[in-house]
Amino acid sequence: MIKKIAILANGGDVAGLNPVIRAIVKTAANKGIESYGFIDGYQGLLDNNYIRLDANSNVRGLINKGGCIIGSSTNTIVFHYPVKQEDGSVEYQDLSDKCVENIKKDGFDCLFTLGGDSTQKSARDLFVKGINCIGVPKTIDNDVACTDITFGYNTAVSVATEAIDRLHTTAETHHRIMVLEVMGRYAGWIALESAIAGGADVCLIPEIPYDINKAALKIKNRMAMGKKFSVVVVSEGAKPIDGESSTFVSDVGDGTGIKVKFAGAGDRVAKELQELTGLESRCTTLGYMQRGGCPTSYDRVLSTKYGVKAMELALEGKFGTLTILKNGKLDSVDLEEVVGNNKELGAVEGGTNESNVRLVTLDDELVRTARDIGIALGD
Ligand code: F6P
Repeated sequence: MIKKIAILANGGDVAGLNPVIRAIVKTAANKGIESYGFIDGYQGLLDNNYIRLDANSNVRGLINKGGCIIGSSTNTIVFHYPVKQEDGSVEYQDLSDKCVENIKKDGFDCLFTLGGDSTQKSARDLFVKGINCIGVPKTIDNDVACTDITFGYNTAVSVATEAIDRLHTTAETHHRIMVLEVMGRYAGWIALESAIAGGADVCLIPEIPYDINKAALKIKNRMAMGKKFSVVVVSEGAKPIDGESSTFVSDVGDGTGIKVKFAGAGDRVAKELQELTGLESRCTTLGYMQRGGCPTSYDRVLSTKYGVKAMELALEGKFGTLTILKNGKLDSVDLEEVVGNNKELGAVEGGTNESNVRLVTLDDELVRTARDIGIALGD
C-alpha cells in the first residue's frame, strides 16, 4: 500500500524533467498518494532536504517548463561521496546508509529516480539496500541502456537541428565550412540524428574514430561540384583514429573532486579542415543550449507517459525497475539489467563503458541512413 512517494532528479538537466514530475505527482494525487521532491538530487536525499509536491499548487503549469523545480545535482554519488577533511584534502566515503535511513525514517514508500546511467546505477544500489526505487531514463545523450529513448533527447536534437539550419544559410552565403559541436560525451546519437535532420555533409561521432582526410575529401568533392560550403556536425567526444577525445580536467575547488569534461573537438576539426581544404572554417559550440528551455511536444508526451508508467509500476509493486520505450511500446526492465555487469555496489562515473551506456553501433539504422544519403562519417 503506497501512501507517500518521493522524486529526485540527478545529473545534467534536460527539457522534460518538470513534465515527468508533473505526471508522477498528478497520477499519485488521483490515487490519494502524497508526493515529495528531494532538492538537488541525491544531495537532497543525503541532507534529507525535501519539499511537498502538490498537484494543485507548485506542480501546476509544468508541462512546457524547462529546468527542474526540485533542482538536480551533477556528480553526486552517495556511495562515493567526497568529504572534505580538516587538512583540506578530500576523502571519498560511502554515505548510502544515511540515505536509506532518511527514506525509512520519513516513511517514503517509493523513490523515483530521474536520471541517466550513473543515477540509475545508484538507484539499483539503493534498491539492493532495501529502498523501493523506480527509475525514469533521462539524458540528452540518449545513452541509457535497455531503452530506445530517454526524455530530453528529442528536444536536444531539435535544438541542434535548428542550429544546423541556421549555420547552413550563413555557410552558403560566405562560402565557409561551418562546424557545429554538439553534446553526447561517449555517444553520438545527438550528432547523428541532427546531422540527418539538418542535411549536414559530414558527421563525426565518438563511436567511429575519424580520419580527417576522409572528411576533407567529402568537402573537396563538394567543392569540385561547385558547392563552396559545407556543414559538419561533431560530437564533443569525437576522436581521430590515431588520437584521443578533446577533454580537460576540471576542479571547481568546492570539494567535489576532479572531473573530466569535453571541449574543443569542434575547434580542432574546423582548424584541420581549413588547412586541408583551403575553405575558411568556423566552429560553433552548442553546449548547454541543448539542455535548457522548453521541451518539444514529443518530449512533453514521452515524459508524461514515463511519469504515468513509473507511478503504475509503483502501484503494482514493481520496484527496482526502469521505465523504457522499446520498439514504440512503453515497458519496464529491471535496474539489474540496466547496470549490466557492473554489479558491485558503489561509484561509477556516468557515460563510461563500465557504467553500461548504449552507444551507436555501426549497423544502426541511423548510421546506414547517414551513409546512404552521402553523409561522410570520417571512416
Ligand atoms: O550527460 C549530458 C551532458 O550533457 C553531456 O553530454 C556533457 O558532456 C555533460 O552533460 C556536461 O555536463 P556538466 O558540465 O553539467 O557536467
